[in-house]
Amino acid sequence: MQIIDGKSISATIKKEIAEEVRRITGKGGKIPHLAAILVGDDPASDTYVNNKSKACKEVGFDSSVYRFPASASENEILEAVEFINNDPVVDGLIVQLPLPDQIDNQKVIQHIRPEKDVDGFHPVNVGRMTIGLPSYVSATPHGIMELFMRSRISTTGKNCVILGRSNIVGKPMGLLMARNAEPGNATVTTCHSKTKNLAGITSRADILIVAIGRPGFVTADMVREGAVVIDVGIHRVPSADTRSGFRLVGDVRFDEVSEKASHITPVPGGVGPMTIVSLLMNTLKASKKEIYG
Ligand code: GUN
Repeated sequence: MQIIDGKSISATIKKEIAEEVRRITGKGGKIPHLAAILVGDDPASDTYVNNKSKACKEVGFDSSVYRFPASASENEILEAVEFINNDPVVDGLIVQLPLPDQIDNQKVIQHIRPEKDVDGFHPVNVGRMTIGLPSYVSATPHGIMELFMRSRISTTGKNCVILGRSNIVGKPMGLLMARNAEPGNATVTTCHSKTKNLAGITSRADILIVAIGRPGFVTADMVREGAVVIDVGIHRVPSADTRSGFRLVGDVRFDEVSEKASHITPVPGGVGPMTIVSLLMNTLKASKKEIYG
């Protein structure tokens, strides 16, 4: 069994990005700039945005955070998006989700210029990806495709089973795995809460991608011998074995499933570190105007 080491792969990609930024700025080119809008004071969102800013600094990008109180109106946020859309210094813009109830997430996402939508959430980017045009792809599926490429795991002709059908993971993941390219060219089955005989379907998977948000849901009996297992879940669970009193686990029972898998992503250190580098890769593309010219 081989561990797919997202931590090490993401560190390599960060070095490559930093190198490219040095080359661009060395020739007098523009420093890539990522802006984030953060509304309210949810600690998890605060941590995500801080980590994104830290990663920008590591690779030589500029970044800025526009903070708003939880009471901010939809109009205030739309105006901030408009301002950043028109700021030539900013290449990429993300609005950290979830937003407070008084703000319509879709309305805000659809107000971002697709050229700056480095989260790949705007329907124009989702649509372009669906028909195989250049687009920004959301961070988790983008990061997983990068893991297949960099670990030299071929997906062509494989049976790929995806657990979860969310707009930002399961759905785009299915489209990417079925596209006419490598990685891709897989026969894709998407499972969800209404799927019958789940274990029967997962046990036939050559590649199993799990994004259902339930700690330890996938057990060894659900996995075929020699399968490639990608675990998108990350959960804090109580633990008597750590000083902090908790540990991080995925949607997959790593201890038992790793005995059967040919390749598996650990939690932490698998898919997680790839998501931030995906955002950095998209921001670099935005700065170089690679997608929309
Ligand atoms: N909240 C949870 N994941 C994400 C993400 O990838 N992007 C944004 N903007 N918000 C999130």
